[in-house]
Amino acid sequence: MTMMNKPDNQNDPKKENLEPEGKFRDDPTESDESDVYTIHDRIVSREKGEPDEGFEPTPWWVWTISVLVLFAMGFYLGKYSGTFGTIAHEVEMPPRPAEERVEREVRGDQLYAGMCQPCHGSDGMGTPGRYPPLVGSRWVTDDAETPARIVLFGLEGPIQVLGQTYNEQMDHFAHRLNDREVAAVVNFIRTSWGNDAPEIEPERVAELREEHEGRGRWRASELQALRNNQQ
Ligand code: HEC
Repeated sequence: MTMMNKPDNQNDPKKENLEPEGKFRDDPTESDESDVYTIHDRIVSREKGEPDEGFEPTPWWVWTISVLVLFAMGFYLGKYSGTFGTIAHEVEMPPRPAEERVEREVRGDQLYAGMCQPCHGSDGMGTPGRYPPLVGSRWVTDDAETPARIVLFGLEGPIQVLGQTYNEQMDHFAHRLNDREVAAVVNFIRTSWGNDAPEIEPERVAELREEHEGRGRWRASELQALRNNQQ
């Protein structure tokens, strides 16, 4: 019967505040305070016991992927790093023979554009009454020596070009153009805009330069005389 009655006593508000006989309320062994410590200790000890995440073993697949990535990076560096030498960034130029290099620097069309075009025009037609045309002019196309002589030492006085008379001055280029350049520009005017005459060699230009060294501008009559002598 007593065991059965006990739960009933706890729920009964009248019996709740009743103290057992001979016991004091502030007895440390039985007080509410000691219960709080016991409960608290139980909670704290449970929290301490929780496992630490940092010490879990790394999964096998993480190791596998890491090793594969390292291998891939090593392979890439081995193939493309170029041993990290500075030479990897230098552009390799194929060696060119000296002969070809000189040929490339001397361009008749470029020399014409820079030296002759201002007066004789990009189409070689000159300026009527002022600068004679080079297109179809026999001073250009007959013999190769005549235009070379004009370019080397200049020209002045009356000259007939395609039925028109000019009486102007053209300066000499002997001091500005070397033999190769004179040959290149003469060959350009002899083979452009429909002109089609054989080329002159730089060696022949060198001979003419030496032959007439120190002279002033040509007159058309002098050039005509030299031309007649050659034929
Ligand atoms: C500053 C203007 C000027 C420049 C630059 C010039 N010439 Fe002339 N050129 C003339 C004049 C002017 C004449 C005619 C001279 C005369 O009346 O006697 C002439 C005449 C000629 C002639 C003979 C006439 C003819 O038309 O066939 C040739 C060839 C010639 N020049 C070629 C050249 C070449 C090649 C260059 C460039 C390397 C050149 N000239 C640069 C003004 C120029």
